[in-house]
Amino acid sequence: MTMPLAAIIRRMPKAELHLHIEGTLEPEMMFALAARNGHDLPYDSVEAVRRAYDFSSLQDFLDLYYQGMDVLRTEADFFDLTFAYLQRCDADNVVHVEIFFDPQGHLVRGVSFDAMMSGITRALDEGQKRFGITHRLIMSFLRHLSEENGFEVLDMAAAHRDRIFGVGLDSSENGFPPSKFARLFAACRDQGYHLFAHAGEEGPPAYVREAIDILGIERIDHGNRSLEDPDLVREIVARDLALTVCPLSNLKLRVVDDLESHPLGQMLEAGLRATINSDDPAYFGGYMTENYLRIVEALALDHADVRTLARNAFEASYLTSEDQAPHLDEIDRLFSDAIEERGVAIQARRSQEIR
Ligand code: HPA
Ligand code: ZN
Repeated sequence: MTMPLAAIIRRMPKAELHLHIEGTLEPEMMFALAARNGHDLPYDSVEAVRRAYDFSSLQDFLDLYYQGMDVLRTEADFFDLTFAYLQRCDADNVVHVEIFFDPQGHLVRGVSFDAMMSGITRALDEGQKRFGITHRLIMSFLRHLSEENGFEVLDMAAAHRDRIFGVGLDSSENGFPPSKFARLFAACRDQGYHLFAHAGEEGPPAYVREAIDILGIERIDHGNRSLEDPDLVREIVARDLALTVCPLSNLKLRVVDDLESHPLGQMLEAGLRATINSDDPAYFGGYMTENYLRIVEALALDHADVRTLARNAFEASYLTSEDQAPHLDEIDRLFSDAIEERGVAIQARRSQEIR
């Protein structure tokens, strides 16, 4: 019997490269933390929160995302949030994560840099011990804030340099081009941080180009609109910069009208190293496995496509080649077994037809 593609997707080891830890705050936890911290919520039930998650744009989502993270106050809150995400990863066979956090979103509420770092890293260490999930942590700058504010945060991060692997750029895109942060990213590079940025989610291909040429990013978060510029696509392929694509996010934020018109298939055809990710799963309706299943169904992707996507994520990760190898081998084993089984099934059917 051929293992159906859905079963392989569930079982295969996965790496997640585009996830905002604040975007994993499920409404149930939002209520629990609000109660623990004596914080009032503008909703009277979990259902009311879920009903509010009907977004018309990135900004429409961000307004609720920043409001939601208001409940995060203490070290324990950040631990609980991060550990709950890692439990979801374990259930989805996500074995490696490279995740963002938004320090500026918390500093404004008087949360200390130490509290968030301690909570998040304690959970990441526990997740590695309990589930074997490896990790990298990326500090993301909010692009609607000033570059100067970014420099202040970079100074605060210095005390945690050993736990912060890289820096990213997120929040409202249009009107906030990557070039606004040229000096900040140059300083981050000088301090040895790896560099990432959201670009081409709602913003034009020119923003992707700026992120590459001016900021010097090593991976493109989203990148959908790169496809509008064939020269840019050629450059991204030539430089082998991966795209961290987020199907359900794109659907919920109306970056695409429906999953059937999602550009992931075109990205793979163009030779772009696309990966599947969940972005803000508590807000967008699905974690990693769900993102795979929904996009594979919508685009009728086949075994070879899914194998490529799964491999891409490990190859675009910052695991060493040595640490990638067992996961890549396991992916190959699952797919080659499935393909062999399929071959046997087809042969059996043919011999039946002959008889
Ligand atoms: N885009 C920009 N900023 C964000 C996102 C996103 O998808 N999620 C959380 N902050
Ligand atoms: Zn994102």
